Amino acid sequence: MPIASTQVRPHDRASVAIICTLGLTIAFVLTGNAGWAILAGIATVGLGVVARIFSRQAPGPMPHRFRGVLFLPRGPHSSAHLHRILEPRAGERILEIGPGVGIHAVPMAAALVPGGVLEAMDAQVAMLADLEHRADRASVTNIVTTQGNAQRLPYVDRSFDAAYLIGVLGEVPDGDAALRELRRVLKPDGRLIIGEMVLDPDYVTLSALTRAAENAGFLFDRRQGPKAAYFARFVPGDR
Ligand SMILES: C[S@@+](CC[C@H](N)C(=O)[O-])C[C@H]1O[C@@H](n2cnc3c(N)ncnc32)[C@H](O)[C@@H]1O
Repeated sequence: MPIASTQVRPHDRASVAIICTLGLTIAFVLTGNAGWAILAGIATVGLGVVARIFSRQAPGPMPHRFRGVLFLPRGPHSSAHLHRILEPRAGERILEIGPGVGIHAVPMAAALVPGGVLEAMDAQVAMLADLEHRADRASVTNIVTTQGNAQRLPYVDRSFDAAYLIGVLGEVPDGDAALRELRRVLKPDGRLIIGEMVLDPDYVTLSALTRAAENAGFLFDRRQGPKAAYFARFVPGDR
């Protein structure tokens, strides 16, 4: 199955424009230009809507050249918050889909020692190379990287204790297929964590996610964080 292109997506261009208009809005507010600030604010909101529409029409992986945004502070999506809801334990085998440069992968892998492994699967080799570099610098040696597509996981049935995806599902053209694959590779007592943030043009609402996850055979367990930047935890439906 060919992976979606990693070229610049239309909503990446819209996102760059959003950063510019947001900067202008702040500048106009600070310099007391209320009228211009309102106009720039309206343009920002409008571009946000356009970016969301483009994302739905042409879902695909965030290009590696924009990886800088992955280093921004995460607030409720920090590794500490992920750790709290994922509850990684020593010896477990956990899957991260779409790890990007490895902001979460490295600390989660460290929590699986001794004996555990983090499998990190991403569509882009360049992201995985950055992740490996980051793991090397942190002396974390229990991450296995694989290039692949979330819609068809290269792992055997019921082989993971847990899996997680942060800001990834909305980039996958067939998110329902990805959820079915996650259901297949998770053990019957496994857990699935999905994180989504409203500022991301590829944002998936909690209600849409819950519907799709239930169709794929999961049960909603709990939410952590605000709806605008949530982590949702699911468990296999037949446990
Ligand atoms: C917005 S980045 C998030 C990276 C990381 N989860 C984080 O929060 O720092 C999305 C990542 O998902 C990957 N991705 C997108 N679609 C994918 C797919 N169909 N299969 C595997 N990985 C995918 C992208 O290559 C990218 O690394």
